[in-house]
Amino acid sequence: MARETIRQLRLYLELLQEMGVDYLPRGESRDRSPSPTPSTREEKPAPPLQPDMKKLDSAQTNPQLEAVRAEMGECKRCPLWKERKTLVFGEGNPWARLMFVGEAPGREEDLQGRPFVGQAGKLLTQFLQTIGLSREDVYIANILKCRPPGNRTPQPQEIEQCFPFLLKQIQAIKPKVICCLGGVAAQTLLGQKVAITRLRGQFIPWRWDIELFLTFHPAYLLRNPGQKRNAMQDFLKLKEKLEGSE
Ligand code: URA
Repeated sequence: MARETIRQLRLYLELLQEMGVDYLPRGESRDRSPSPTPSTREEKPAPPLQPDMKKLDSAQTNPQLEAVRAEMGECKRCPLWKERKTLVFGEGNPWARLMFVGEAPGREEDLQGRPFVGQAGKLLTQFLQTIGLSREDVYIANILKCRPPGNRTPQPQEIEQCFPFLLKQIQAIKPKVICCLGGVAAQTLLGQKVAITRLRGQFIPWRWDIELFLTFHPAYLLRNPGQKRNAMQDFLKLKEKLEGSE
């Protein structure tokens, strides 16, 4: 347990270092003895990062979302069911204000039945941690619920069958912001071809009073680590947005 925590802390510090952070301010001292020169300034407690989100009990069920899962059943609407091990529906806070949408499950996700649990997922989790969120605070899903063989790009007929269920998930969760991870998610939700490099980092009004936000897919960042710094800027914008709309 302690070893795992240390490993995660190391990964987190490495990510910060890669992003150009070479200094961390000291936190509050653990020494609780009275300060020799007590400050007369009234110190305001730091605002919590996501008060609303934390207030919502993420364990609380969302019956509408559960109904979508039930409707999908053991889906055979497209041929991807033949090679999948598990259908990856999505996971996280069923009332999340922030939702992430990726492309499709990969090998690890297919085995575990959970989205973003491979290498790309670890990076996504780290980015969330840097803005004070955990996976349980947000909801994570994909355009496709089943793994395309060899992780190939989803085909239009597969998206056509699967996307209506993502739309129903979104209607059940009612997030404030949906962060599209990569081109497939962005193009599917926007309904048009987009260049992530041009549109990333912007909030785009969408339907149902939801804003879309585009950023790089974490798998792309693993191949292009030089872009992690830009991705970090995007995540900071997300944090600002959520804090400003409580
Ligand atoms: N890539 C995705 O787009 N989704 C996952 O769940 C994992 C990797």
